[in-house]
Amino acid sequence: MDTRKILLSEKDIPQEWYNIIPDLPRPLDPPLHPETYQPITPDLLAPIFPMELIRQEVSQERWIPIPDDVRRIYQVWRPTPLIRATALEKALKTPARIYYKHEGVSPPGSHKPNTAVPQAYYNKQEGISRLATETGAGQWGSALAFAACMFGLKCTVYMVKVSYQQKPYRKSFMQSFGAEVFASPTDLTDSGRAILAEDPDCPGSLGIAISEAVEDAVKHDDTRYSLGSVLNHVLLHQTVVGLETEKQLALVDEKPDILIGCVGGGSNFAGFAYPFMKRKMEGNDLRIIAVEPTACPTLTRGCYAYDYGDTAHLTPVLKQYTLGHTFVPPGIHAGGLRYHGAAQSLCLLVHEKLIEAVAVYQTKVFDAAIQFTRTEGLLPAPETSHAIAVAIEEALRAKAEGKEKVIVFNCSGHGYFDLGAYDRYFAGELMDYDFPEEKLQEALAKLPKVG
Ligand SMILES: Cc1ncc(COP(=O)(O)O)c(C=O)c1O
Repeated sequence: MDTRKILLSEKDIPQEWYNIIPDLPRPLDPPLHPETYQPITPDLLAPIFPMELIRQEVSQERWIPIPDDVRRIYQVWRPTPLIRATALEKALKTPARIYYKHEGVSPPGSHKPNTAVPQAYYNKQEGISRLATETGAGQWGSALAFAACMFGLKCTVYMVKVSYQQKPYRKSFMQSFGAEVFASPTDLTDSGRAILAEDPDCPGSLGIAISEAVEDAVKHDDTRYSLGSVLNHVLLHQTVVGLETEKQLALVDEKPDILIGCVGGGSNFAGFAYPFMKRKMEGNDLRIIAVEPTACPTLTRGCYAYDYGDTAHLTPVLKQYTLGHTFVPPGIHAGGLRYHGAAQSLCLLVHEKLIEAVAVYQTKVFDAAIQFTRTEGLLPAPETSHAIAVAIEEALRAKAEGKEKVIVFNCSGHGYFDLGAYDRYFAGELMDYDFPEEKLQEALAKLPKVG
């Protein structure tokens, strides 16, 4: 029998996170102050984040130690299995070998607690008693609710209204860990009230929810903000995924030809792929593919420019691929991939053509999800299924070319809270959506005029 699950023991949980910043082909453009457009200094971030996370955000150290208290909570579900998708390979009749790293085994069901846990830990260490955050699909809010609970912190979650309505049980899940959850935009913050005054039926967006959570943190001394993606320190924490995957592939003597992950803000993709970037930058034959929805085509159709991270201009201005911070994406069923921008380092690597970006339609994504479910027996999150769709496409390409490729994708989460989306898919109600060019140009016209 071929090995199907490649497992590590708890002592293999990485002891350090990998920081790609010193290894990038060129330095990142500096984050700018949202009002003056001057480079920001770390002290300006102090009302928002604890100092240790600010240090990690700007760190040039390649390896950063993982505190024992964080590794002890990681032990609840890490190391995660790397699974050979033999049944999917058979169904596709492909000579490719397909592996997936199963991050859906964590308590909240995704990769998100890999960073939620250290973020809660450093806040606790620095005497903070409450965390405020946004959530799209509900995965990040669930992860932070779990992590806050593990360290005895309170947690307030601003959940994008359309997801709040689509996924009522995500709210119950967060409440089970003691978090309070509000549908954003709310009338609890100035940013929320301003949006509601313009559009009382606004479905919300991650940009709006971020504004609300940041405002909440800035206005309360005992509270800090926590972000589930995009920032350097978040991507850093996620590298436990790729570091374990490297070890697991080595155990079965495999070298990946193609790595695939979905991209919302870029954290699961980066955490999975960055530990392999060195090989790529040394000129090895490795393709690294980032997958996004056609409805929110940040990397494939966005503009590479400085933009705000949120709607109310409270966050630093970052150089990134962006659809414009005023972009309100259609209510597609991959709530976690509906962000207008993406992580700076990822955007730089896409710009330098070290990472490929592709966009896929949601019906193709759900077709792939169901094929995966019926072969591998796991119902994936709609976000994750973007990666699956491209893994299947590449496996079929390998078949057409008669090549034995090794394809590895990150299974960023399970879809057991996404059954409403699956219902709509089975009812034939899911629409494919291309973001209209005029709307994109309208949003891009509102980019900050920097430099
Ligand atoms: C299961 C899952 N995968 C992927 C993502 C996308 O986020 P990121 O690009 O930060 O990994 C999300 C975000 O909510 C998610 O819940």
